[in-house]
Amino acid sequence: MTNVELGLPALPAKPYPEEVHARLAADAAELIGRYPQPRSALLPLLHLVQAEEGFVSATGIRFCAEQLELTTAEVTAVATFYTMYRRRPAGTYHVGVCTNTLCAVLGGDQIFAELQQHLGIGNNETTADGAISIEHIECNAACDYAPVVMVNWEFFDDQTPQSAKRLVDDLRAGREVRPTRGARLCGFKETARILAGFPDERPGANDESGAGGDPSLAGLRLARGEALPGTPGARIVSPRPETGGTSEGTEA
Ligand code: FES
Repeated sequence: MTNVELGLPALPAKPYPEEVHARLAADAAELIGRYPQPRSALLPLLHLVQAEEGFVSATGIRFCAEQLELTTAEVTAVATFYTMYRRRPAGTYHVGVCTNTLCAVLGGDQIFAELQQHLGIGNNETTADGAISIEHIECNAACDYAPVVMVNWEFFDDQTPQSAKRLVDDLRAGREVRPTRGARLCGFKETARILAGFPDERPGANDESGAGGDPSLAGLRLARGEALPGTPGARIVSPRPETGGTSEGTEA
């Protein structure tokens, strides 16, 4: 059933140029073939069209609908539900500032406020040169390194307003910037293609170099009654004895 048949306005979408459509259709066929039901490939296909244009355009929505035999209304509903799909062109570097509770109280709110002022753009906007877009994002499960900034979903840990402004300045100037951990940074479109499910061949992308380190294990160490590295005299919480409660002491 079409949008018009559903009583919805038709999307004014130009088709992709023939060559682009053929290339994307081949990629889409590969992605769709990974699932028992074609419609299950919608999320990867939305990343695929986002990789083409830097956002999910009306053309991209129509392409996904055609490939999966869905209505454009159905595709639009999904594309507008998940915040990783952009409805306007993202910058080459999409900067997400975590403003969930832990990051916020440790400086995330201040980082986001100062970045907006520094760049002269608001939430979900892109600089005029197309280099940077910013967005306040929800928890990225990196609270042990709060406050956290993501650039194209790579981690920049333990940020301050000053380091975050230096980061976007370096990105705009084309200076090399390295995430705190994990693979090297790549552009927004390249990231979207990886998220669609195509191979990520960046060094460090498929090993444990992006995993957390000592701060991630601090809680586990405390629970085991171990002192934290570099904290002589720190209070040790011993494991709960079989018959009693938690015992506490001070490291000698
Ligand atoms: S609150 Fe920011 S990463 Fe969890």
